[in-house]
Amino acid sequence: MKINGTPYRTIWPTVDNKAVEIIDQTRLPHVFTTVRLENMRDAERAIRDMQVRGAPLIGVTAAYGVALSMSHHASDAALGATCSVLLNARPTAVNLRWAIERMRVFLEPLPASERAAAAWREAARIADEDVEINARIGKHGCEIIHAMHEKKNTAVNILTHCNAGWLATVDWGTALAPVYNAFDAGIPVHVWVDETRPRNQGASLTAWELGQHGVPHTVIADNTGGHLMQHGRVDMVIVGTDRVTARGDVCNKIGTYLKALAAFDNGVPFYVALPTPTIDWTLQDGVKDIPIEERAAEEVTYISGLCDDGQVRSVQVTPKGSHAANYAFDVTPARLVTGLITERGVVKADAEAMQILMPKEAT
Ligand code: MRU
Repeated sequence: MKINGTPYRTIWPTVDNKAVEIIDQTRLPHVFTTVRLENMRDAERAIRDMQVRGAPLIGVTAAYGVALSMSHHASDAALGATCSVLLNARPTAVNLRWAIERMRVFLEPLPASERAAAAWREAARIADEDVEINARIGKHGCEIIHAMHEKKNTAVNILTHCNAGWLATVDWGTALAPVYNAFDAGIPVHVWVDETRPRNQGASLTAWELGQHGVPHTVIADNTGGHLMQHGRVDMVIVGTDRVTARGDVCNKIGTYLKALAAFDNGVPFYVALPTPTIDWTLQDGVKDIPIEERAAEEVTYISGLCDDGQVRSVQVTPKGSHAANYAFDVTPARLVTGLITERGVVKADAEAMQILMPKEAT
């Protein structure tokens, strides 16, 4: 996607394959800057501190983290230690485990002397595949938006939560890929952007990237969606996800479940867009089994933004001494999901229908 007219991905290796560059998402939307990751610890920190975030991008960053590590030490012990450090960077997005496992299985049989070059190639393949997958998600999702436009003949209003746009992937995004596809095809769309407290991925990132692409959008406080749905102002919800179970329960940014309930109550279709590596075939009951990340209380008690003097500052919004809890994700049961938009088509969120998405090695 383009930033001020220049095409970017969210992550790319330097020409000499010695380092990796990322867009620092903690500085957006007020400052656009890139950061150089020189070693595996840098990659781990970038994931943990959310300079990169979003399930697919977390996975790709970890894959490059393995490549960075192999350039320094490529023994079996180094490979094992690298995988376990990266795996612990964040707990909820299963793409992290998926990408690390793919790198490990690919590299383990190779002699140590060949691992570094092979790791850079495999990480680049994972990144390219992500772009291809998201482009396909975009096409399948666009058909749904197109059908809705045929039905109502005015702009299609889509509500999204958090950021599942190109910043959350290598390019295109998951939930926003259908939106970009529809917009580029001339279908009139408008996006309701949930601000997504506490980290404000909606207000800061989704709004920014939609703006860069020229897509009409309106940022709303997190509690607004239900009201808009009651008044017929949301035609569909499309969100991304960090992990989907084998029976179709969907884990995504905290607050997604409440939007799904409101959509269900108002007969608004609720779609989840995902690449198939986001499916965790080992789990069934998402509420019981998916680990939910708990983050620092300060993300809730403080908020940061651009001040009138042009400086970005953090301010406290709660009384001193109030405790805060910061659960980063919740689980939407499959029964509330209208459909899963994947690179292989739109599939019902249930165990039987999802069989067609299962990779051979998981059967
Ligand atoms: O905590 P984050 O910002 O990594 O959470 C991201 C989300 O919840 C996204 O909606 C999800 O990863 C899907 S990204 C394509």
